[in-house]
Amino acid sequence: MLSAFGGVGHVADETNVLDQLIGQVADESLRNRLAREVELLRGSRRFGLVFDRHIPESVRLTDHPIRKGVRVALRDESSTATWTVIGFTEKNREIAVLDGEGGEKPVDALVVVREFGEPIYPGLRSVERIENGPAAAPWHTVINGENFHVLQALRSTHRGKVDLIYIDPPYNTGNDGWIYNDRYVDQNDRAKSSKWLSFLERRLLVAHDLLKPTGVIIVAIDDDEQARLKLLMDQVFGDSNFIANVIWQGGQRNDAKYVATGHDYMLIYAKDEPALVDSGIRWRERKAGLDEASSSARRIWEEANGDHAAATKMWRSWMRAFKANSGITDGVARYTSLDEKTGEPIYTGQNLSSPNPRPNLQYDLLHPVTGKPVRRHPNGWRYSKEQMAALVEQGRVRFGADETRGAQGVSFLSEFETQIAKSFFEVDRRKSARWLKQILGDKRFPFPKDHEVLMRWIRLAAPGDAVILDFFGGSGTTTEAVLRLNAEDGGSRQSILVTNNEVGAKQATALRNAAYHPGDPEWEAEGVFEYVCRPRISTVVTGKRPDGTAYDGGIPANVEMFDLIYLDPGRVRRGTEFAAVAPLMWLEGGARGDRIEEIPDESWTLTPSYGVLFSIDALPPFASAVAKAAAEGRPLRVLFIITDSPTEYQEAVERLPVGIETVRLYEDYLSNYTINTEGGAR
Ligand SMILES: C[S@@+](CC[C@H](N)C(=O)[O-])C[C@H]1O[C@@H](n2cnc3c(N)ncnc32)[C@H](O)[C@@H]1O
Repeated sequence: MLSAFGGVGHVADETNVLDQLIGQVADESLRNRLAREVELLRGSRRFGLVFDRHIPESVRLTDHPIRKGVRVALRDESSTATWTVIGFTEKNREIAVLDGEGGEKPVDALVVVREFGEPIYPGLRSVERIENGPAAAPWHTVINGENFHVLQALRSTHRGKVDLIYIDPPYNTGNDGWIYNDRYVDQNDRAKSSKWLSFLERRLLVAHDLLKPTGVIIVAIDDDEQARLKLLMDQVFGDSNFIANVIWQGGQRNDAKYVATGHDYMLIYAKDEPALVDSGIRWRERKAGLDEASSSARRIWEEANGDHAAATKMWRSWMRAFKANSGITDGVARYTSLDEKTGEPIYTGQNLSSPNPRPNLQYDLLHPVTGKPVRRHPNGWRYSKEQMAALVEQGRVRFGADETRGAQGVSFLSEFETQIAKSFFEVDRRKSARWLKQILGDKRFPFPKDHEVLMRWIRLAAPGDAVILDFFGGSGTTTEAVLRLNAEDGGSRQSILVTNNEVGAKQATALRNAAYHPGDPEWEAEGVFEYVCRPRISTVVTGKRPDGTAYDGGIPANVEMFDLIYLDPGRVRRGTEFAAVAPLMWLEGGARGDRIEEIPDESWTLTPSYGVLFSIDALPPFASAVAKAAAEGRPLRVLFIITDSPTEYQEAVERLPVGIETVRLYEDYLSNYTINTEGGAR
């Protein structure tokens, strides 16, 4: 037996080769020194995913003024260099003097940039408001902006409030037009994967904060980054929270002669799996009877004292009685043997209660594609014709490519997995593109996800009043899925979709050739938000395309679309600041009903879902209005108390009814939602 090594508090691991070798060193002092060095080395070695963290991304603030002290880059993106403005050559400020190698440059060739890490002040500007649903229904929101910044703003408004996050990030295939720091990342970029991981890690860390304890995240991915993403997710969400890696559209491509590639995956993680299981969403439910069976097997093995034959006999008789007395599944009852060495039950596939496991039924089972009778096993079918029809209907029978290949039961699939298999293994990739083309009237986006697949996911993974977030929203499929699902089952789910207004690589070249740049209206009109997502959502809700042509009857729902804007703290006055953060407060209040857009003369105001106290002097009428609403059975969701003083805040909270969430905001509205700093403002 090895003893504990001295000095560093390390206890030797008998199964570790290094520890064993060190244990054999006779000289105690040398042994301890070696152990200490090995321990230090162990501390510096990381397991799991190791990747270079890339320089922070930056954001271009195209509408910010070029002033002394700001960081700037070239508007035409012909270089990645940035400089600080140190002055101007003339009074009219048309030529800026830049530090370093920047020299002098015309102001209209420059754009303000902020690197991730420098504080910036977000606001939301409403660009389209469609009120087509009941007044009390929650509003769905679509935000056009850099998702890292929107996520950080949501960290203030939605920390721990999101039920389901679904994302379909750029797959990093080398030709999918993925942009890192204003540059397309192509196949030959040696840092392609580490850039992608840096990009995603930053966003996933914030996403983790947004999920409820019972929340779930689903990430779509393909072969290029699946393995690395799995490790990254293990790191960010914890490997014990891994739920499943569902393969879909796997092997469906017909272009391969020998091996089919082209798998898509959905990596599913819980924020906290035990909390999720307690919530009733049972992703990995153990089969009925399994726990009792394994504890009984342990007891029998101990009683038999290592006599395998005796233990097996006792085990089979226990199993028979257990099966007769309870409703355990066949899957459990088929653990008919015990392992000779460990006594663990082994699955043998024999059904204890049926002496003939294959009843040799003879009938024709028709192949679903060719319509011809499927090749039959010499012992016939196991299930009756009716049972088989039901199993086929449930997707629990796997057919070969044609009738000559037979058919196989997929009985290992639990009820839940069966539902996934039914809907996800055979989706025609082209269906969703056709669907989107029909909505928009022409083809505008190459690979949208399938809204019906998403509807099924959402139905399975989130409650009927869930908050669902997609921050790589693209064409807006997730919003459409939530809208349609609510219309179908009367749910009150609320979707928050974030996408940037990226222009496809080909289109970007054409625009650049025509001397347009990001920020120009001609450029922005071609982006995925303006050109695809926004018209799609408005068409789906109103039933009319933006060009006036009819699509269908529409969906009764309320949707508001916003641009993320970056406020310039040097320019805004207090009143303007409030208008820009008002939508963020409305979002934090649940995005229901009216929005408080300006500061009222009374210094307090309430909507049916949230209230704002602008001055502590107005506490008495504010508190009694809040109490009255609660007494009448209309409790508010969130109350904002605006004060810089912790004592005043405390005083207000004590006067308000318990059980309503209260939030303290600083009098300087900008600092409440400051982002881009480590962790955000709140
Ligand atoms: C693979 S597509 C998602 C497609 C989407 N699932 C659909 O059905 O339309 C990824 C989308 O994320 C957007 N995107 C990429 N980087 C982003 C970022 N940093 N912030 C916001 N959106 C981003 C891209 O514009 C692209 O439309």
